[in-house]
Amino acid sequence: MDASRETVRLAGRRRPVILDCDPGHDDALAILLAARHFDVLGITTVAGNVDVDRTTLNARRIVDLAGLDVPIARGCAAPLVQPAVHAPEIHGESGLDGYEFPPPRAPVEARDAVTFLVDTLRARDGITLIATGPLTNLAMALRTAPELAGRIREISVMGGSATFGNVTPAAEFNAWFDPEAAAVVFQSGIPLWMCGLNVTRQAGIDPAGIARIEALGTRTSRAMAALLRFYFDRQRDRVGVASASLHDPCAVAILLQPPVISWVPAHVAVELRGEHTRGMTVCDVRHVPHFNPAAVDGGPPRGAPPNAHVAVGIDRGAFLRLIEDALASYP
Ligand code: RIB
Ligand code: CA
Repeated sequence: MDASRETVRLAGRRRPVILDCDPGHDDALAILLAARHFDVLGITTVAGNVDVDRTTLNARRIVDLAGLDVPIARGCAAPLVQPAVHAPEIHGESGLDGYEFPPPRAPVEARDAVTFLVDTLRARDGITLIATGPLTNLAMALRTAPELAGRIREISVMGGSATFGNVTPAAEFNAWFDPEAAAVVFQSGIPLWMCGLNVTRQAGIDPAGIARIEALGTRTSRAMAALLRFYFDRQRDRVGVASASLHDPCAVAILLQPPVISWVPAHVAVELRGEHTRGMTVCDVRHVPHFNPAAVDGGPPRGAPPNAHVAVGIDRGAFLRLIEDALASYP
């Protein structure tokens, strides 16, 4: 174990987290980055990129690949209200196309994800939730046990956007997939970190970056390089972007020190009714010079009081170095 990891471990400062995800190529990287820096108490899976059976299988595959020892609990199969609409065009039919995995060995918890979340959060204060898929599981857990809102340290979300969407001009996939669930989380009063498309689209990896990952020469890095090549091709061909956006690890990186992602306090509301805007995260950034040059720097927020730390910038080089460092730490 290298000195930095030993230091963190000995200091006992590894933040306890639960990762809620819908693997998903970028979710896979979020799992590996989180396990590199935090004490991952569990991985809960949810329907999103693909159905929950496949996201659960994919979580098992990544846990096996990296040699992690983390409980995995299968979560909600559909959003709170609307039917599920998956995204195989981006992640492939399996949700993690691009690499042939061996049969999974990592077990799946007998408890479902919502029960696992409620039990774990009731048993221990100060846990951080990191959500990189639709927020259905978290919303169900908060509805099941409202008292948890006072015991969760904070929630870091990859979702929404302070500017444009991807599924629609206004809505980002995770918020769009289950807007009602996103509204429950953003109205919970729990300290929130929001990494939206306005930043995660800047967190892209290109073929040279993928080659650097492959050159790390480990089983995990070679597999991730193959997966990222598939993901890069799909992002280029179906989304029209010149690099593969590593959305989900941003929700981990924003919690790390020194910071690689900058943020502003802002109020975020989730639109549930708009014909053209359902699933939009309406961020009140009227006080933020980054979006509103007329605003006085650090001036008082307008409208409702801020309920989230909203990401507005990223040091892409430092972010990619975090990814490479994490991948180099696995077999
Ligand atoms: O919009 C990007 C998000 O949708 C990411 O979490 C990606 O994995 C997909 O779930
Ligand atoms: Ca995801």
